[in-house]
Amino acid sequence: PLVEPFDLVIFGGTGDLAVRKLLPALFHRFLDGQIPASSRIIGIAREALDDDGYRALLRQALVGICDAAKLDVFLQQVGYRSLDARKDDGWADFAALIKSQPEHVRVFYLSTSPDLFVDICGRLGEHGLNQGKSRVVLEKPIGRDLDSANRINDAVGRVFNESQTFRIDHYLGKETVQNLLVLRFGNALFEPLWNAGHIDHVQITVAETVGVGHRAGYYDHAGALRDMVQNHMLQLLCMVAMEPPSSLEPDAVRDEKLKVLNSLKVIDDSNVNQLTVRGQYRAGVAEGASVPGYPDELGDTKSNTETFVALKAEIGNWRWAGVPFYLRTGKRLPSRVSEIVVAFKPVPHSIFSADSGTLAQNRLVLRLQPDEGVKLWLTIKHPGPGGLRLRNVPLDMSFAEAFGVQQPDAYERLLLDVVRGNPTLFMRRDEVEAAWRWAGPVLAGWANSSESPRPYAAGTWGPSAAVALIERDGRTWHDES
Ligand code: BG6
Repeated sequence: PLVEPFDLVIFGGTGDLAVRKLLPALFHRFLDGQIPASSRIIGIAREALDDDGYRALLRQALVGICDAAKLDVFLQQVGYRSLDARKDDGWADFAALIKSQPEHVRVFYLSTSPDLFVDICGRLGEHGLNQGKSRVVLEKPIGRDLDSANRINDAVGRVFNESQTFRIDHYLGKETVQNLLVLRFGNALFEPLWNAGHIDHVQITVAETVGVGHRAGYYDHAGALRDMVQNHMLQLLCMVAMEPPSSLEPDAVRDEKLKVLNSLKVIDDSNVNQLTVRGQYRAGVAEGASVPGYPDELGDTKSNTETFVALKAEIGNWRWAGVPFYLRTGKRLPSRVSEIVVAFKPVPHSIFSADSGTLAQNRLVLRLQPDEGVKLWLTIKHPGPGGLRLRNVPLDMSFAEAFGVQQPDAYERLLLDVVRGNPTLFMRRDEVEAAWRWAGPVLAGWANSSESPRPYAAGTWGPSAAVALIERDGRTWHDES
């Protein structure tokens, strides 16, 4: 269905996220007929470009998606303005342009460094662009710690109220993540088992093959904990661990996630070396090609920024007492895979003899990417004569096979949720703060520790200490390869 007519303004319009993700997502929605003809998409950056220059830049990024004729029609709805958040020039004209369609929903997407959020919101406020059906979208990371996040949220909050503010975490827009809600709360099967009595542990892996490449400037100030764990991975953890909300109302869901974040046990100076492993990639082979190490890409051999983290988190509440959540993420790992593994406790007593084979844990695996799907690993009897032999096999549902459709990108869903004004899949201010409150002592623990991130060769699963982290507990990282 068509959404209300809207104007979407993307600050950071020439940036990587806008060009690689946001505009392609909008183009896909356009192709599905969801973008009203009077809607305008306006890229903003400091570069001196005009509408045609911007369209030419986007054409290169979008041309592979569909035939040129449709792309041309789409690009007619796209424009560009050059603005500097720290200078007055051009803002009045820009405001007049936006106000020329006063009945439209207005979305201001801040896809810039968080340093600019305050200035941009200030300008939007000065020009009255926070009035009417205006919404602001904040890309992660929101700040680099609790204090800076508070400063940003306070400043944004002076211009836009909380219901106008959409803090995006694109992992929440991924199909499988939404499916986790449906699996958990749309089936009677799982919920009775979804607790410390039956679940042995949970693993969340977000592995990437890419290095940081030209993002090194941003990345070196962030690192894997700020870039992936504080937001995406904690959000996944919340979706697994939260209590059943009473409805899908935005605050019903977000209240439950907040409780999980507030229940995370503290990792600080006293236990950071036992509970976390940091790594940094060195030269190696990724996807068949030799690639440089992180220090070479950055041009700085002294950087202590982690490109890999593995950690053991615990949630201090009745449901999850004693159930570890092992999280791991990194750049330049052997394959691109994101998955959540829920590992169940073994049967209490085995009736099978040792020569039948070993009983494996039941595992529920939610694959976020690639090959989105759900697998439930079960023990069965190996078919045929030859005695009773146990086999561990998956009940396997691939979404692509089952539904034969290409999964929409997370941003497609989320951008239209903003236009519709539905914040269920966005982070409320207190969630961001709670996540920083947990991440802060981890970062401080690292800063105070004499250890540096451990080197790992590109194309491997991170430092061996990450394997030791889970094996010490008598468990292993899930591996289907
Ligand atoms: C972004 C991070 O938020 O997520 C990137 O800043 C990371 O470093 C990306 O590569 C991963 O997203 P996806 O959707 O490709 O898994």
